[in-house]
This record gives sequence, structure tokens and C-alpha cells, in this order.
Amino acid sequence: MVATSQLLVRLLLLLPLICFLPLSIQTSAAAGVADKFERGLNLTDGQTLVSAGGSYTLGFFSPGASTKRYLGIWFSVSNDTVYWVANRDQPLPDKSGMLVFDDVNSLVLLDGARRTVWSSNVMAASAPVVQLLQSGNLVVRNGSSDTFLWQSFDHPTDTLLPGMKLGKNLWTGGEWKLTAWRSADDPSPGDYSRTLETAGLPELVVWKRGVKTYRTGPWNGRYFNGVPEVSWYADKYPLRVTTSPSEKTYGYTAAPDAFLTRVVLNYTAGGVERLVWDTGVGEWVSYFKGPRDPCDAYAKCGPFGLCDGEAASSGFCGCVDGFSPVVPASPSTQEVKDSSGGCRRKAALDCAGGKSTDGFKVVPGVKLPDTQNATVDMVIELEDCRERCFADCSCLAYAAADVRGGSDGTGCVIWKDAILDLRFVDGGSNVYLRLSKSEFDDHKRFPTLLVATPVASIFTILLVVFAIWWRRKSRVVGVIPHNPAMAVPSVSLAIIKEVTRNFSDGNKIGQGGFSVVYKGQLPEGRLIAVKRLKQSALTTKGKKDFVREVEVMAGLRHGSLVRLLAYCNEGKERILIYEYMRNRSLNAYIFGATNLRASLNWARRLELLHGIAHGVAYLHGGSGESVIHRDLKPGNILLDDEWKPKIADFGTAKLFAVDQAAPDQTIVISPGYAAPEYVRGGDMTLKCDVYSFGVILLETLSGERNGALQRLLAHAWELWEQNKIVELLDTTMVPLPESEQELLCELQRCIQIGLLCVQEMPGDRPAMSVVVSMLTSTTSKIDWPKRPTNSDGAVSSNSSHGVVTGLLSHTTTDLT
Ligand SMILES: *[C@@H]1O[C@H](CO)[C@@H](O)[C@H](O)[C@H]1NC(C)=O
Ligand SMILES: *[C@@H]1O[C@H](CO)[C@@H](O)[C@H](O)[C@H]1NC(C)=O
Ligand SMILES: *[C@@H]1O[C@H](CO)[C@@H](O)[C@H](O)[C@H]1NC(C)=O
Ligand SMILES: *[C@@H]1O[C@H](CO)[C@@H](O)[C@H](O)[C@H]1NC(C)=O
Ligand SMILES: *[C@@H]1O[C@H](CO)[C@@H](O)[C@H](O)[C@H]1NC(C)=O
Repeated sequence: MVATSQLLVRLLLLLPLICFLPLSIQTSAAAGVADKFERGLNLTDGQTLVSAGGSYTLGFFSPGASTKRYLGIWFSVSNDTVYWVANRDQPLPDKSGMLVFDDVNSLVLLDGARRTVWSSNVMAASAPVVQLLQSGNLVVRNGSSDTFLWQSFDHPTDTLLPGMKLGKNLWTGGEWKLTAWRSADDPSPGDYSRTLETAGLPELVVWKRGVKTYRTGPWNGRYFNGVPEVSWYADKYPLRVTTSPSEKTYGYTAAPDAFLTRVVLNYTAGGVERLVWDTGVGEWVSYFKGPRDPCDAYAKCGPFGLCDGEAASSGFCGCVDGFSPVVPASPSTQEVKDSSGGCRRKAALDCAGGKSTDGFKVVPGVKLPDTQNATVDMVIELEDCRERCFADCSCLAYAAADVRGGSDGTGCVIWKDAILDLRFVDGGSNVYLRLSKSEFDDHKRFPTLLVATPVASIFTILLVVFAIWWRRKSRVVGVIPHNPAMAVPSVSLAIIKEVTRNFSDGNKIGQGGFSVVYKGQLPEGRLIAVKRLKQSALTTKGKKDFVREVEVMAGLRHGSLVRLLAYCNEGKERILIYEYMRNRSLNAYIFGATNLRASLNWARRLELLHGIAHGVAYLHGGSGESVIHRDLKPGNILLDDEWKPKIADFGTAKLFAVDQAAPDQTIVISPGYAAPEYVRGGDMTLKCDVYSFGVILLETLSGERNGALQRLLAHAWELWEQNKIVELLDTTMVPLPESEQELLCELQRCIQIGLLCVQEMPGDRPAMSVVVSMLTSTTSKIDWPKRPTNSDGAVSSNSSHGVVTGLLSHTTTDLT
């Protein structure tokens, strides 16, 4: 604080001067700290610059256990995440450092003896200004010029932020790359670096002292081929590879509403991690971490080896078809692990003088081999690529270079030397391998493992059984996260079938007009709720919009909403995976047997209503998005182990709702909960949810169902008019003793709020945020309700009451 005020005082002294400049000093509104200074001013240890908006802070720090001082920039939310360091290998011994413009207008860092320990080098500027921009970029420019004379984004440390890039500057021959710290206490350049390799197809490579340790796989037009995971978050953080006469670079940006993010090269083992600051939970969430498994270790299985991350039992390594291990490893596991001698061709190729009998076999779903020495042609089609490879006896394999064009992809990569660093990866590409004609003889071959054990031995059989079991298990483990970050993963149908025992009846826990809900059990024992949407009930638009809606749902996170964990969108299937709620839904209690009703005492019911109101208010705008639930009812309110309400099914109703004017319209809302204007064919608005909430409130307190004829509303109004509202309270519950007069008052207030929510005119109903404040404050004034909707508003058609069967159920009213 002292430092801050010093800086402010200094700025105030300068005020007369500043006023003559068109550009006034910008200060971050949040912190009141400047984001820049000019020649003549300086920054000393303890002072900071904070970017406009407050996300980033420049200042002096000591890393880890070190007492040395460095000048760096960090994320303001967590000051231990330093993403840029000026004097990486020139630490200051004490706190006497100072950042200042020197006589020749270089931005320099001086030590206590005023010696230069770091410099941005000379710049052609007479009025230099240094500023920490909103992007996190520290820039130097002349006055208010748009041109950056120097920028920290051109000198990356170990972190890539949105707007930065890796790769080569073809004008200057310079390179942007990441270099890891030496250790947690030492930001000086360590052993690991990460570059964009541009020979062959562009790809990101991690190096350890000049030796490749990990590749992402080549850029395929959308993402790096070995990291298909990025498609989960590519809409928030789009990747970009630029190939132009001036540069070959990779970088990414962040959508305006995206959380803060960084990609860090770690000093431990050269791991690369994308982290996202989730403001909801207040911590860094890992979106991706590579290398993922032993198969990501560069060239683990040697030339023509094929690594399978799910084949731990066989040491991960195998050979591509038509190849066998160079040195048959001994059965000792020690040697199996070390076997990276690669694989040898079994039958020689037959190709000479433009003639060949060889064929091509596809190796599907792989991270493409290293393209360092490959030949790339971006313009031809895959079919031409095959011909080109076939005609050239030195061509050993080919693949498409760009997946954007179509299913098989376009463009052509041709490998003429060894195939290196090949691995299976979910969503990977195809490589076409040149093999001798004899390899295409029609007999099914078991994949060649590098384990040379007697084929018939029981050991081998056990090994295979284990491998299959392990493979199945490991496929499922970790696919469905506990706590998904912003993007929820899509999981394959095969996995869902596995955890629900192929949608067995025994696993069925609920059914409604639009979906069937199953219980699923993950290998680690965790339970999930699998909601399988009925294909026949989905509209064409609903099917099309599914993934987009899932993304909206995934972005909605609140203690009173059921958490979406994953989804499946395969073929015709549309499946949502939620956290599992043991205690079933609210209707089972409030309309249930006496003992169930009694388990929800008055205090608990009020708490539930508060929770539900908060959840709906959040849906209505608390997240920045405004989402109408459309189908609020006690059957959609689940209770967790602590009796906290969890609203389910938000957003899904939209997938079923069709145009009101369509002849085969289906109104997706349950009778008794639908607002009268909606039943009459009006619009679905936020106020429709408020109406449904009012009904839920009255039902929860009375234990009576409203029903399609709105009987409960009529009854409640009658009692209200006669000033006998207490009689509405559920009579199966113990009457409240005198001593709990306070609670009684609250219940009465609560009923009044419920009556307001079910007013006939949408405009007379309070917004959900107002409902929350009325419920939570005992002093706020509540309007007098008018007579709520009469029975005209009731659903008067051939309404088919769906049977409410607990978890995640839907009921429907068919109005045709
Ligand atoms: C740094 O700034 C302070 C306050 O503006 C000033 O008093 C001091 O002389 C400056 N130091 C140098 C070395 O420029
Ligand atoms: C970071 O925050 C911690 C705790 O809030 C504080 O002790 C530490 O001095 C801060 N470090 C820097 C460099 O500001
Ligand atoms: C720097 O900007 C000032 C005005 O802000 C201008 O007078 C001067 O010529 C500029 N110098 C250079 C080298 O561009
Ligand atoms: C590197 O990894 C270690 C251990 O996983 C972790 O504690 C540390 O925070 C990471 N460092 C960076 C710069 O991400
Ligand atoms: C590319 O060729 C060079 C020189 O022959 C060789 O050292 C290197 O290992 C090759 N790289 C790959 C991936 O095959």
C-alpha cells in the first residue's frame, strides 16, 4: 500500500504535465494502480504496474524458496503464477532493483549500484512509455504511437498467453520459443524448450538439451493431430497456425467471455499444460497435460514401432502390420520395457523401374509420424497422393495433410525414411503403409507384440485376457470427470454401454416422455446418471443444436444445479451424463408417505425453497447468460446427500420444444406448472419459470398437488382472502409449537411470495432475483397479491398426465 501511494503521489505531482498531453495516465479501475510510466519515472521493488482490468501485475518477486529478486509479470489472481521474467539469469541480490529508461531511452533494470542487469536494448524514441497492456503484454512505444518498439510477447519465458506465438520470424531469422525454468526457485533457462517445427508439417516439439522428447503431432488444419482433445475447448481458445512470407507461427486467442488461460512448459520432465482460471472455483483447472502416457515419449517404440497407451501389459510397444521386432526381447520384463529397437519389415517390397506389386495398408487412428524429413504437398488429393507414393519406390508411407476438406482429408505427406513416433490416439488420423503383396494374404493375424513368449502357454493367454480387461477398464477410467471445467467431454457410446450394462432394465431409474434415465457405475465405483434422450421425441433442430445446448448447460455451474459431467452425440444417440443423486426428487417427499413427508421438516423445506430460488435466479442471469428452464417442477428438483436441492434438466426442454404454430406441437411443460399465457400459445419467458416456481413453493408447503385444474392455487387464494393462510400448511406435519412463532411468520411470508409468483399477468410476477431477496430478507416489503390465475388458465385439452417416476423425469401434455 505504501508503494502504491508513493506512486500515486508521484503521478499527482506530474498532473500538470499530463494534462497537456492528449493521453492521460490510464489507471486500472480495480486497483487504482497505474499500468504505465514514461521516461523520467521509475519502478522500484514493492511497486507494481497493473494492467487495465486488473488481470496482470508487473513487479519484483522472489520465486519459491529463493530470496533473490526478479522483475516479472504474473496473474493478479494468483501471484505465484509468473508468466514472464525479465532478468531470468541475472538475479538481483536484494530489493534495490529499479526499472527505468536510461540515457539512450532503453528500458533497463538496474541493481543497487545502478548497473544494468537487463535491458530491452536501444529504441528510436524520444518520449518512451512502458505499459502493461490488458492482454498481459508489456510494451514500450514512443508517446502514444501504435507501434511497439519492444514487447514482452516477443521474448517468451515458459508461458504462452493468448496473443503470443511460437515459431519463426522469416524476416529476421528470429525464433519465438518457450524455455522452462531451471527449477521452482530458479527462473533461469532450464533444460526444456518448446518450439514450432516447420520442416514438413508444422508441429510443436518439446526438446531436452537438443533432443526431442514430445511431439504434438502435425497441424492438420484444425489442431495438432496428436492432441484431438483441444476440440473440447477450441471455441473458447481457438488455435491458429500462420504460414506467410514473413512468419511461420502458432498461437491461440481467447474468446471475449473465456476465462484467463496459460500454457506452461514445466521444468519437471518438460510437461506441457494448459491451465484455465475458473472464477467459479477460484483455482487453476487443467485442460490438457502432455505427455499423457508413456506412448507420448518421443519415438518410444523405435522405427516402425506402434505404441498403444492401453497396452501396459505388453510394455506398450508393438509393430505396425508387416513388421516384427528387430531384437526379439527376452521374456524378462526389464528388457520388454527397454525395447525401442524398433521393427523390421517381414517381407521385402517389390518395386523397381516404375513397376511394383506392393500395396498399402491403413494404420487407423494414429498420431502421424514425425514429418521432419517428409515431403508435403498441400494441394493434391489423397488419391493422387497414393499414386505418387506408389510410383516412387522410396516412398514408404503417405497420409492426408489437412482434415478440413472431407472425411479422408486432402493434401499429401510422404515419408521416405523411417516411420518414427507413431501411436494410437483417440480421434487420430490414418497412415497408409507400403507393404509387400504377401502381407495382403487373407488370414487374420494377431497383432504382433514385442513379447516373445511361447504362443500356446497359459501365461500368454492370461496376458491377453488381462490386456483386454485392462484396455476396457482404462478406456473408461478418467473419461468422465468429477468436476469438468468449462468444456464437458464427449464420451463414446461404447463407454456408456459399458457403464450402464448396455442400458439394462436393472439400471433404469427413471422414465419420462422424452428420456429414459439409467444409473451407471464407473470402474472406480462412482455412480452417474445417464439420461438417454428418446430419438423420436427430439426435433430435427434439437438434434442439430444438441452440442451447442450442451455447451450452454456446461457453462452453467451453481450449487443448486445438477452438474453435467459429459455427453454423447454418436449416430442417432443423444445422451447426457449427470452427477448421481441418491435421494431422488422432491415430489417423492412432498407428495409421499407420511414418513417421507416428515423427513422434510419446515426448516428444511424453507431451505430447499431458498436453494431452488437461487438456482433459478442463477439460470435467469446469474451466469451472464439468461436461460429459461421451461420445465420446472418437483420431479426436476433432485436432493443431494445433504438435502440440498439440485435443479435438473435445465436447457434440455428446448431440444424438444417445437414451433408453436406447427400442427404437431408438443408443449414441453407439465400441466399444473405451465403459466397461463404459455398454455394459451404465448411466448416462453423467464416469467413462465417464476410461475412454475410459485406452484412448486405452494406445493412444497401444502403437500398438495396443484394439478391441471389449478386447484391448489384456487384453494390458497381462498385461504388468503379469509386470512387463514396457515391452514394451507401440510397437515400431516407436526403442528408448529408456539415457540416457533418466528418460523410460522416466515412460512406465511413465503406463501405470500408464492401467490405473487403465480399472478395471472406476467408483469405482476416478480423477477426471480427479487424473489430471492424477498425470501432471504425478513424485512423487505412484499406486494399484496391479486387473485391468481383462474381455472380458465388450466390446461383444458386431452392432457395426458405422464407418470412422474422420480429422477430426471419429464411429463408431457399433448395439445393436438
Ligand atoms: C525514481 O523516481 C523517484 C520519484 O519519482 C525519484 O525521486 C528518483 O530520483 C528516481 N530515481 C532515479 C534513479 O531516476
Ligand atoms: C503473493 O501473495 C502472498 C499472500 O497473499 C504474499 O504473501 C506475497 O508477498 C505475494 N507476493 C508478491 C510477489 O506480491
Ligand atoms: C516520439 O514522440 C514525440 C511526441 O510524443 C515526437 O515528438 C517524437 O518525434 C517521437 N520520436 C520518434 C523517434 O518517433
Ligand atoms: C510443474 O509441475 C509441478 C509438479 O507437477 C508443479 O508443482 C508446478 O507448479 C509446475 N510448474 C509450472 C510452472 O507449471
Ligand atoms: C531426418 O534425417 C536426419 C538426417 O538424415 C536424421 O538424423 C533424422 O533422424 C531424421 N528424422 C526423422 C524423424 O526421421
